[in-house]
Amino acid sequence: MTDTVSKDRVLIFDTTLRDGEQSPGATMTHEEKLEIAGLLDDMGVDIIEAGFPIASEGDFRAVSEIARQSRNSTICGLARANLTDIDRCWEAVQHAKSPRIHTFIGTSPLHRAIPNLDMDQMAERIHDTVTHARNLCDNIQWSPMDATRTEWDYLCRVVEIAIKAGATTINIPDTVGYTAPRESADLIRRLIETVPGADDIIFATHCHNDLGMATANALAAVEGGARQIECTINGLGERAGNTALEEVVMALKVRGDIMPYETGVDSRKIMNISRRVATVSGFAVQFNKAIVGKNAFAHESGIHQDGMLKNAETFEIMRPEDVGLSETNLVMGKHSGRAALRAKLKDLGFELGDNQLKDVFVRFKELADRKKEVYDEDLIALVSAATDPAADHLQIVSLKVLCGTGGPAEATLEMEIDGKDSIATEHGDGPVDAAFKAIRVLHPNKARLQLYQVHAVTEGTDAQATVSVRLEEDGMIATGQSADTDTVVASAKAYVNALNRLVVRRNKTGPGADTREVSYKDVS
Ligand code: KIV
Ligand code: ZN
Repeated sequence: MTDTVSKDRVLIFDTTLRDGEQSPGATMTHEEKLEIAGLLDDMGVDIIEAGFPIASEGDFRAVSEIARQSRNSTICGLARANLTDIDRCWEAVQHAKSPRIHTFIGTSPLHRAIPNLDMDQMAERIHDTVTHARNLCDNIQWSPMDATRTEWDYLCRVVEIAIKAGATTINIPDTVGYTAPRESADLIRRLIETVPGADDIIFATHCHNDLGMATANALAAVEGGARQIECTINGLGERAGNTALEEVVMALKVRGDIMPYETGVDSRKIMNISRRVATVSGFAVQFNKAIVGKNAFAHESGIHQDGMLKNAETFEIMRPEDVGLSETNLVMGKHSGRAALRAKLKDLGFELGDNQLKDVFVRFKELADRKKEVYDEDLIALVSAATDPAADHLQIVSLKVLCGTGGPAEATLEMEIDGKDSIATEHGDGPVDAAFKAIRVLHPNKARLQLYQVHAVTEGTDAQATVSVRLEEDGMIATGQSADTDTVVASAKAYVNALNRLVVRRNKTGPGADTREVSYKDVS
């Protein structure tokens, strides 16, 4: 990497809390959204798309509070192309030091057919809505959804209308992940060359990953002249997800020699936010995921290890510290004290209050008694459980299972439900099934199990298992997680954690309700 080239600034627009969170099952609680927004702001993200305010009272409240708590980032909300959406969006983002309204409409033939507008009617709608938004706010982003499948002449026409109506950023979405790098670069370059007024605004790129090309397409768009990349942490998002923030940030950093662009993101904060997003969304990061996967910096083969010991650059193009991985995975054990734990957690990006630290320390000691070595991943799982605001309504007191060959498994479960103890014994097709049945007997519910996932967070037979459980009840989705050295216990705890989250959501009526009434795909 050379530092001598003068570099153009590329704005990073993070949409983890909007496009990412809108993917089925990735729903976050209000507190989690605020926490993630704070981390994005801290790491130097230029624009945070905090949500879709018209979608629900919960979304509105989250965007408003994120706007109020924002320090450096511009806070953006999404609005469809109608005045009600735009007004509601402005109501939420106006509290930010730097607010932005992002309004959009699907412009490709397939998308135009949904609201049944012809080309002229849609052009008029774009003019009216962007003008309205610009009368409320100085910072307006406009997107022709499905731009990459929109007729070229019509795309130029509507982009020009939006610029004339006052849009300050034009985002070109590859909504279905259809484009390829050369095409992505050409599209932006030609728009800038062709559309009057294009030089005065910023072009953005918004790529989905259906063909695995989102990062390549986003970087190519930058080569074509885009100066804003839209992305999400861990590439979270519907279907195959969005461009991953960590990938574009590190690609620009590592290959500054051929891509002379810079971002304002502090890459050392990447690992921490990646872990938090994985935990709160319930979408675990695949082991071999670029930059943030567990194996991204692991070298197991003899040749690699030998080379690494002689010179790290033999097999590494970036240093683990550059993405916030501590150089050594300092192992903690049962003799480690509270100060060491505090220091270790700080290193991992967790600054806990005294009470929380006390709680985590107790859990750490319990774990260290059962497990010889406690790794970073174990601690992260512990902190996530100890700091979960939804932990209280239902709690597992004890769980015993009998299983083996030649018969159903039996689970005897004792739970405390709103302060009262009860016990049940159930049989099932394996210990997890029996435990889940016992939970349903003690806490009858209609929740449907949508996802059950087990990961070993570290190696060895005493490794902790992290289990994710996603439940759906009356359109509400909640994801629970838990970690334990016993997979059945972790499973039961994760199921109970998801139920607790459903209870919290169900109890929230009025302004706190978190049920989504509309999707950004509903066209008004
Ligand atoms: O993918 C897409 O087209 C979107 C728009 C709302 C910008 O997310
Ligand atoms: Zn999108």
